[in-house]
Amino acid sequence: MLKPLITGNWKMNTTIAEGVGLVMRLRELVRGVEDVEVAIAPPFTSIHHLRFLIADSPIKLAGQNLSTEKNGAYTGEVSGEMLRDVGCDYVIIGHSERRQHFAESDETVNKKIFAALRAGLKPIVCVGETIEEREGGKTLAVVKRQIKTGLKGLGPGMVKDLVAAYEPVWAIGTGKNATAEQVEEVHNALRELLYEKFGTASAKDLRIIYGGSVKPENIDSFMAQPNIDGALVGGASLKAEDFARIVKFKKTSRGKHS
Ligand code: PGA
Repeated sequence: MLKPLITGNWKMNTTIAEGVGLVMRLRELVRGVEDVEVAIAPPFTSIHHLRFLIADSPIKLAGQNLSTEKNGAYTGEVSGEMLRDVGCDYVIIGHSERRQHFAESDETVNKKIFAALRAGLKPIVCVGETIEEREGGKTLAVVKRQIKTGLKGLGPGMVKDLVAAYEPVWAIGTGKNATAEQVEEVHNALRELLYEKFGTASAKDLRIIYGGSVKPENIDSFMAQPNIDGALVGGASLKAEDFARIVKFKKTSRGKHS
């Protein structure tokens, strides 16, 4: 089992100066953290500047999105190779805000996963249902479809660096988080699907993290679940103290999946 992964998604927030302030504070607060992997996804414009501040800290960098293409006439796009070049280890793919505002489909997500792996980035693949889908009893069907189509064509040898992020759309930015039990149910179903698709040996290190109004007050209950391997944090990642508290979630003796 890999270490839990706590990632901060800054979205379209922070100037360079604001990002520097946040990282300076954060790196002090997470100094010496070894049992948890910490990553931040700042806006593209700040990444180059911040990479020098996180050297000698446990903080890694993630892109918030990437192009399906490597280079060429794609005005406004940023490729996986460019993200790697600027020091990113991870990239978020298929966030619901990209699906909603930029018409990203499961097929686009699939192309972006291949683009990320080609560039040597670890994809954090987001899935999640809307409130209508949940109320209609379709949650598991929706997230399984998103995973099946999103990961189409990947072989067992390609998934060890993959991270799946379950982010119910209704919990993102709303302050209304899913309960730990609701999340555990979905993660458990996703784990079974991934084991079935790629085999237990290949998929055993694949982390399934939760996102949607994660806060210092609720992180411990999520991390106590056997199938929750970390968190994708939006709003609370913009406050160094809150994000650091999330990184330093309380370890419980409850066993994790094997
Ligand atoms: P939130 O965002 O923590 O502000 O709900 C989560 C996300 O969008 O990844």
